[in-house]
Amino acid sequence: MTATHAFWLAGRQATGDTTFEVTSPWDGRVVGTVSVPSDAQVDEAVAAAHAVRDEFAATPAHIRAAALDHVSRRLVERTEEIARLISAENGKPLKWARGEVGRAVSVFRFAAEEARRFNGGEAQRLDTDLGGQGRLAITRRFPKGAVLGIAPFNFPLNLCAHKIAPAIAAGVPIILKPAPATPLSGLMIGELLAEAETEAKSQLPRGAWSILPVANDRMPALVQDERLPVISFTGSEKVGFSIMDSVPRKHCTLELGGNGAAVVLADYASDEDLDWAASRIATFSNYQGGQSCISVQRVIADASVYERLVPRVVAAVEAQVTGDPSDDATDVGPLVSEDAAKRVEGWVDEAVEAGARLLTGGKRDGASYAPTVLAEVPGDATLSCEEIFGPVLTLHRVEGEAAAFAAVNDSKYGLQAGVFTHDLQTAFRAHRALEVGGVVIGDVPSYRADQMPYGGVKQSGVGREGVKFAMDDYTYERVMVLTGLNL
Ligand code: SIN
Repeated sequence: MTATHAFWLAGRQATGDTTFEVTSPWDGRVVGTVSVPSDAQVDEAVAAAHAVRDEFAATPAHIRAAALDHVSRRLVERTEEIARLISAENGKPLKWARGEVGRAVSVFRFAAEEARRFNGGEAQRLDTDLGGQGRLAITRRFPKGAVLGIAPFNFPLNLCAHKIAPAIAAGVPIILKPAPATPLSGLMIGELLAEAETEAKSQLPRGAWSILPVANDRMPALVQDERLPVISFTGSEKVGFSIMDSVPRKHCTLELGGNGAAVVLADYASDEDLDWAASRIATFSNYQGGQSCISVQRVIADASVYERLVPRVVAAVEAQVTGDPSDDATDVGPLVSEDAAKRVEGWVDEAVEAGARLLTGGKRDGASYAPTVLAEVPGDATLSCEEIFGPVLTLHRVEGEAAAFAAVNDSKYGLQAGVFTHDLQTAFRAHRALEVGGVVIGDVPSYRADQMPYGGVKQSGVGREGVKFAMDDYTYERVMVLTGLNL
């Protein structure tokens, strides 16, 4: 018997008439039972968010910052417990779950810092033309309206943090919907925010935030609700674009899929270079079971280093420790569900049948899929065209830098790319040539610092997250022109 987790309605704990169970993808045990808000409770939360928008926008920065600092501090204090919760509900190995809590600590801390900096206003003299003589423009940012934040299962704490922390920092009300498979970590944020009221004396107005674990089939009603004019969605390309298409007049930010490429160029050729590249590629094609939008899916290597790189990559992938996510030694746990592992198995089998060479892996056991490397995957295989979202890597040999960059761009996705090179000129050429939201030099595409702009182009999404960038995204510039001044 596990305790029932309440949800958060306008900053207060609440329960509904029904519940659902959250189970571990590793052993199927029940990790928690979650109370589900009724339609009336959802409506109450949305009405409260809408009603409080002006009051929240006017809440002093020190109050918003104190709440965010409190959450950051408490995440540090409760790291181990929360990491175990993430691991239990998501199947993420503990070592990666601890890393995720550490990132959420930073997200809330950055948000507190940004709250203190935000909206000081920017002054611009207008007397640069005769018509603007004696005039000054002051630009400040104001909320577009309450936000609907929809978070995915793969980083159940930190991607909820990326929705809610910038909203609080900017004084924008938010309704957060965590993923149905992994709602417990998102609900934990509610517990820490609620504590801030008493322990940090940070009284956010009622309605400023709600965390509602509703099923995906109730999402369309929230998406259509005119009281939520901003939608910040992280998840699949199909769902993301269908949301955007269904509400063309709303402001949507979509963080969608990717098939991250790691490019290894000819100058990255010493034994030490190739060992480093192989170890990073192996680690980050398998972290969270490959269930990250910026995990390495494709290795694009110059022909001059390819033969020396491949055995290193295969050895490093085979060295990944698979198994029980609650074991400190485990690198790769199960995928989120057996269905997810079966989909990965189907795509790999299809590629092999079409002529791909399986260098290691290729086996499924329940929800777990072995770290897998393939070469010579046909260009029309599903694995070549879609995001695998599993622990699978494809290897590609190319002749020269231009061909490598063209191979990266030969994709419907454009989230991040990694380029292993020592050459500064090459780095700048990559930055210019690659059609992605982020280029990482000397490392894999999977590097993300939570304060930097993050997001994609093409089918990888629209808009940017990263604390300050999400605050900009939730707000708009409003200019005030002062006249008759002695400038
Ligand atoms: C994602 O899967 O889009 C998030 C990756 C990250 O935050 O590291």
